[in-house]
Amino acid sequence: MKFIERFSFAERASHWISALCFLYAAFTGLALWSPRLFWLSGVFGGGETVRAWHPWAGLFFAIALGVMFRRWAKEMQLDEEDQVWLSKSALYAQNIEEGIPESGRFNAGQKMMFWLQSASAFFLLLSGVVIWFPEVAPRSLRLIAVLVHPASAAVSLVGIIVHFYMSTMAVPGSMGAMVRGKVSEGWARSHHGKWYREVTGR
Ligand code: HEM
Repeated sequence: MKFIERFSFAERASHWISALCFLYAAFTGLALWSPRLFWLSGVFGGGETVRAWHPWAGLFFAIALGVMFRRWAKEMQLDEEDQVWLSKSALYAQNIEEGIPESGRFNAGQKMMFWLQSASAFFLLLSGVVIWFPEVAPRSLRLIAVLVHPASAAVSLVGIIVHFYMSTMAVPGSMGAMVRGKVSEGWARSHHGKWYREVTGR
């Protein structure tokens, strides 16, 4: 079986650093958000530890995502074929490939997820900084921040649950791409046909 490179080491490193920081920030954020979920803080070293580390995890998450953003923002621009792909995404969800345009390196669903995650991370970071340094921000800004922070966290969490499902269960072979950096030619041809032809010249 022949393999081709899908993600470089730098792409995989920034992805997994952002994923780890995201998971830590998400679980500790849930612990800080609701008294019913405060028990989660016990898993991560207790209330004080969680309160101290949650903003740092959020900051490192945003930095790692920023690295991914710089690398991929150009490739993630939606084109006309992506619009067609999106209009037929119900077929994609049923595993019916006829009539769906071949994807480049990323399909339109992945591109939408990228923009959704980037936008929610931006709002999470801005509101998070305000909550982190309350003495610096005026009261009105603090009030907006405490609403925006959990709202964008919820959007981000739902997106990541979908992303996790797609990349671990719905599309077998994806994990190999993000762990070893390589995919089989067959996988590339069937999931990202346009990209496969660009890379191999066939
Ligand atoms: C929580 C555990 C996560 C797992 C198991 C996971 C898994 C994966 C896998 C397997 C791919 C490669 C897909 C392909 O080759 O087409 C991927 C791509 C990607 N991941 Fe993740 N990921 C996780 C978390 C995250 C987080 C937290 C972010 C950022 C907010 C993120 C952003 C991306 C992006 C932008 C891509 C490229 C486009 C895409 O495939 O959607 N991932 N991920």
